[in-house]
Amino acid sequence: MKKIKIGICGWGTVATALHSSIIKNKNQIKRTHQVDLEIVAIGARRDNPKYNPGETKILRDIFDVLDEDIDVLVELIGGTDDAKILISSAFKKKIPVVTANKAVIYEYGDILFKEASNNDVNFLFEASVCAGTPTINLLKNGLAGNKFQSIKGMLNGTSNFIISQMEAGMSFEDSLSFAQENGYAETDPTFDIEGIDAAHKISILSNIIFGSPLPPNEFLIEGISNITKEDIYIAEKLDFTVKHISSADINDGKLLIRSNPALVRKSDYLSSLKNVRNGLVIDTDLIGKIHISGSGAGGEATAAGVISDIVRLASESTNYNASSKENLKYRQILDELFSFLIIVNSSSEKINSDVIDRLTENSIPIRNSGLINHGNKSDITCFYETEEIASIDLQEFLNDISNLSCNFKTLRIEK
Ligand SMILES: NC(=O)c1ccc[n+]([C@@H]2O[C@H](COP(=O)([O-])OP(=O)(O)OC[C@H]3O[C@@H](n4cnc5c(N)ncnc54)[C@H](OP(=O)(O)O)[C@@H]3O)[C@@H](O)[C@H]2O)c1
Repeated sequence: MKKIKIGICGWGTVATALHSSIIKNKNQIKRTHQVDLEIVAIGARRDNPKYNPGETKILRDIFDVLDEDIDVLVELIGGTDDAKILISSAFKKKIPVVTANKAVIYEYGDILFKEASNNDVNFLFEASVCAGTPTINLLKNGLAGNKFQSIKGMLNGTSNFIISQMEAGMSFEDSLSFAQENGYAETDPTFDIEGIDAAHKISILSNIIFGSPLPPNEFLIEGISNITKEDIYIAEKLDFTVKHISSADINDGKLLIRSNPALVRKSDYLSSLKNVRNGLVIDTDLIGKIHISGSGAGGEATAAGVISDIVRLASESTNYNASSKENLKYRQILDELFSFLIIVNSSSEKINSDVIDRLTENSIPIRNSGLINHGNKSDITCFYETEEIASIDLQEFLNDISNLSCNFKTLRIEK
């Protein structure tokens, strides 16, 4: 039976869950995969009061783990710069690396893949997207032989959780606090609610299937921090669900990547996935549409993804990543056709007729519209669902209404 000696760097949520999961499932892994996993050392600059590692050796300098007799380094410190130095140092010593760190791959992916290749060592990162829900291995190996057309879905469990709470009647602020109290959001939630975490993940997936660079070229990144209960109520009236959607798709040989709040039809598969669930729809030429969903966060769910990579190391000779394509062509978001939901708030009684005049002047066709009067307050909310229009035409219309006395926002409607 093959033995794999593991060095772990970082001693937080995922690392401790990895330690306990390996102990818990060691015999099962031996039986199903004929691999014996042994944790040789942990790089932890302090003890974790929530977990006792028993006899496993603790090293206070994470770089000392690289001097131990290990077959793989598991990087679980998070962040970018220190993680990059640690991973590069492992490659120089010909030690394969497994990581759950999407930020370091987003920022330094192309460099790290090249270094892994130059040193002929494996570099695996299944848990960096959708935690333990098998996604990266599915795209790299399970779907080998397919040409990909698109990949789209919810990649941030915190955003999906917050939106689900808002659907149940909570405000954005209360939902965020509730998510933090339940361990579904960090104390500083910026990466989750501003769409950055999901942008990291869609960039990694797009690199795998379309060869886009890491770090990627600039693309649309918007989070859910401006979504209100009223947006969710209006979406509901029009038979949509609000979701944070990340997507990468090729059309006419050109790539578009984006990560933004959007409306999804209630009949759509993604609409039914609530709370911290992640979900993706992958469209390929040979199979058509494939749906996957599962937990996208949590210590044990992430440890599962890390373990699957470690077990894969026992059987695969080399697995870094395909290099990025240099001549990839891109589409511009402003040239894209979408239907939009336009929401306008104002205290002017004439606001609806004023907006309709501007819509007509800009030749923007409307599929549905409605009005909400806010009781005895003078405020009024008008909403308009457009037919498919070029994003640049919407921009011109928005410039036109910006001199009316109103606030407005738009949400893309997914096709
Ligand atoms: N938690 C999840 O649900 C989840 C899901 C998917 C992916 N991930 C990824 O998994 C990785 C680990 O996440 P986590 O939730 O386990 O994080 P965490 O609980 O914050 O743990 C991070 C650990 O790394 C240590 N560390 C950080 N910077 C270090 C440095 N420069 N030198 C030495 N030690 C350092 C921390 O030590 P101190 O305590 O001393 O700061 C802590 O022990 C991240 O890349 C994260 O994005 C997490």
